[in-house]
Amino acid sequence: MCYNLSIKFEGDIMKKRILSGMRPTGRLHLGHYFGTLQNWVKLQDSYDCYFEIADVQALTDNYDNPEKVKNNVREVTIDYLSAGIDPKKSTIFIQSMIPEIAELTVFYSNLVTVSRLYRNPTVKTEAKQKKELFGNDGESITYGFLGYPVSQAADITAFKGEVIPVGEDQLPLIEQCREIVRKFNHIYGETLIEPNALLSENKRIKGLDGNKMSKSLNNAIYLSDSKEEITKKIMGATTDPKKLRKDDPADPEVCMVYSYHKLVNPNVEKVCSECKEGCRGCVACKKELIAAMEEYLKPIQEKHKYYEEHPEVVDKILQEGTAKAREEAKKVTNEVKENMLINYFN
Ligand code: TRP
Repeated sequence: MCYNLSIKFEGDIMKKRILSGMRPTGRLHLGHYFGTLQNWVKLQDSYDCYFEIADVQALTDNYDNPEKVKNNVREVTIDYLSAGIDPKKSTIFIQSMIPEIAELTVFYSNLVTVSRLYRNPTVKTEAKQKKELFGNDGESITYGFLGYPVSQAADITAFKGEVIPVGEDQLPLIEQCREIVRKFNHIYGETLIEPNALLSENKRIKGLDGNKMSKSLNNAIYLSDSKEEITKKIMGATTDPKKLRKDDPADPEVCMVYSYHKLVNPNVEKVCSECKEGCRGCVACKKELIAAMEEYLKPIQEKHKYYEEHPEVVDKILQEGTAKAREEAKKVTNEVKENMLINYFN
């Protein structure tokens, strides 16, 4: 039997299914928002979207800190919702509450060699970054961490996700999923859908210090930062180091403050020309950015406050989304088991 779950009929329009997710390891920042979330929000109308809170994946490198993962499940859900993910349009679910994903992970693990996992560029980069956890040589890397691309393939295929909106860093994981799907279909018969990555148009967002914005580098502005926090962070952001005096002309392209003006300030052209001409001091420029940022984040922060004050609403969204997602994953898993000849009494 072959269900085609990836298509949702809405009137006469067929909607393809989207599956994506994030690890609940911290509050979401502007890098997540402009790099990923904004794109998800736009896609909600044209696709049947499933957005995962990837707590099992978060535990692969946070297995010794379960409180952190637990606390961030709701935190990240609130960030999804505040950024504009609409539970009436999209399904938000918790990975660990779909045991079928774990089942599929076990089945797929036979289809992937250990050396292929070691060669996965995303795994390699992450293992290097986490030297403290896995040792310098990577030999002490855990089975769970090495295998997380297999579990991510289970996340995607459990829902017959066809379109996977992700950042560039995730491409090797999507490729690995495609290989698993091809191998599965070849051995057990046409069952799973080969997904395609959809890269978001937005470029990487730089942090306050000019490196990639990231929690671990402590250079991020969070969607839920207070006015005081945002003010402090922007006042300390890196500007053109060659600009020494208030009326020196400068290069906005090397200035982090300008990079954020581009994202949130409608008057960005004026900011650029005044900076180049040397008639804009950095302090005034930062103050203007603080006001623009505050204005931009206002609707997001209002929703954030609402959901924070109504945890029962957040829980209901998660419970309903997870129940719906589980039904979908069950259908695919039954089909997978049937084709693997392990559905004994059906
Ligand atoms: N690996 C992704 C990240 O670190 C999160 C993720 C988990 C994901 N499962 C997924 C992304 C499935 C896309 C599809 O951000």
